Amino acid sequence: MINVAFVCLGNICRSPMAELVFKDMVKQRGLELSFCVTSFGTSGCEEGSQIYPPAKRTLIMHGIAGNHVAKQITLKDIINNDYIIVMDSSNLLDLLRLTGGGFGDKIYKLCSFTDRPRDVADPWYTRDFEKAFSDISDGCRAFLEFLLKEKGEAFKYDSRH
Ligand code: 4NP
Repeated sequence: MINVAFVCLGNICRSPMAELVFKDMVKQRGLELSFCVTSFGTSGCEEGSQIYPPAKRTLIMHGIAGNHVAKQITLKDIINNDYIIVMDSSNLLDLLRLTGGGFGDKIYKLCSFTDRPRDVADPWYTRDFEKAFSDISDGCRAFLEFLLKEKGEAFKYDSRH
């Protein structure tokens, strides 16, 4: 079982989108039993909120359904997950502040797995939820490819059943 946590600032736009997109990709490959996927915010400002409606509408337009309730990440969540996948450099700095610089070996920016490393465009400011979705899909696809290459053996059993 690989535990993956996606992280953004508020946990109402980018990281729940990444959570649901990644779950969908994993399911399409028949690997859902191999993963536990969730998401968090570095801030508690939206704690308890549902996915922001424009983000949810964008997911639905791409055939992806699901819900999430926003929650703030704690040090325990960082310890308990194998991969902490942030959306931008600001999220990365916030997490390193929380850990005192530790756990750097399991914290990655989502689009660092792509051939065009970049921040996920923040739709809170751009209002461009399609662009955020595109960055997130690109990053999730590349992250899953990375995991399949790194941990291919671990998935053999699940993909047969
Ligand atoms: P998210 O978007 O980090 O992608 O969930 C934001 C949500 C709320 C705020 C900023 C970004 N805010 O400032 O409240």
